[in-house]
Amino acid sequence: MTSVIVDPTCTDDERRHALYDGDIFVHTHSPAIQAFVAFTRGLIEDAFGGRDPETAQYEMDVKEYAEVLGSFKPTFIHHPESKVHLREILVEHGCDPELTYFDVPRLRTSTSDNYLTTGIAYAFHPHRDTWYSAPMMQLNWWLPIYDVSPDNVVAFHPDYFAKGIANGSERYNYYAWNRDSRAIAASQIGEDTRDQPKPEEPIALDPQIRPVPPVGGTMVFSGAQLHSSVPNTSGRTRVSVDFRVVHRGDVEAGRGAVNVDSHCTGTTMRDYLRVSDQERLPAEVIAPYDVGVPDELLQYAIYSS
Ligand SMILES: [Fe+2]
Repeated sequence: MTSVIVDPTCTDDERRHALYDGDIFVHTHSPAIQAFVAFTRGLIEDAFGGRDPETAQYEMDVKEYAEVLGSFKPTFIHHPESKVHLREILVEHGCDPELTYFDVPRLRTSTSDNYLTTGIAYAFHPHRDTWYSAPMMQLNWWLPIYDVSPDNVVAFHPDYFAKGIANGSERYNYYAWNRDSRAIAASQIGEDTRDQPKPEEPIALDPQIRPVPPVGGTMVFSGAQLHSSVPNTSGRTRVSVDFRVVHRGDVEAGRGAVNVDSHCTGTTMRDYLRVSDQERLPAEVIAPYDVGVPDELLQYAIYSS
């Protein structure tokens, strides 16, 4: 069963273990997130030349719009201040800065009414991040930059947390993906042709849960949750940021959500940065997660972020 737990008083250890069991956490008030939201709004509003990012889709040609996002998103991801904000957020929420590692924050835009749903603004079909080489202990933090509503957020499909489905992840290797596909995302405006794990059997999207955290808040969930982008019919572009987190103790112990259907190879472990000093996980800690990776792909296991 999946519970949504709002503003808990529990420790990070207790929160992680509940997340591995399928619960979803919502934190509604965070000065550190407020500061990150203000920083992000400043950058994206600049990128759109002063246009309102929630409505810029109605004023711009779709190609021009994709170009703005195509150049803005990498700038945001690699902005040194973004990493400082993540450290503040995680420490404020009780994470141990010596044992907690994060991946750089991704800015997501979900345009309304199918304006742009591929490439740089990819609309996510139902998936688990663990189909894409995320480890079973990965936790996702997701926060809105402008107000969100049930018709433009992320949906969870909790019946599948403990139930596997056919998904094609056995054809996915993170290193091959890095080698082949990432560079072309920015140029994909029409149909997205990349082979990605996705449900390969009919699934029931209901029951579903759509948490709606306030601006200045966040939701946290296991990367093993089946989740999808809600088709945006709100009339506004949804702008959100998410980032992935692992706890080194859980990585070393192999402790996380139960793997019901993720059969990919490779691991995203090299992407995470320690909260305290941005050091990577040591090679010997990552090595067990590379079991089964063909030798010819290991050479692409680079520290990519
Ligand atoms: Fe995801």
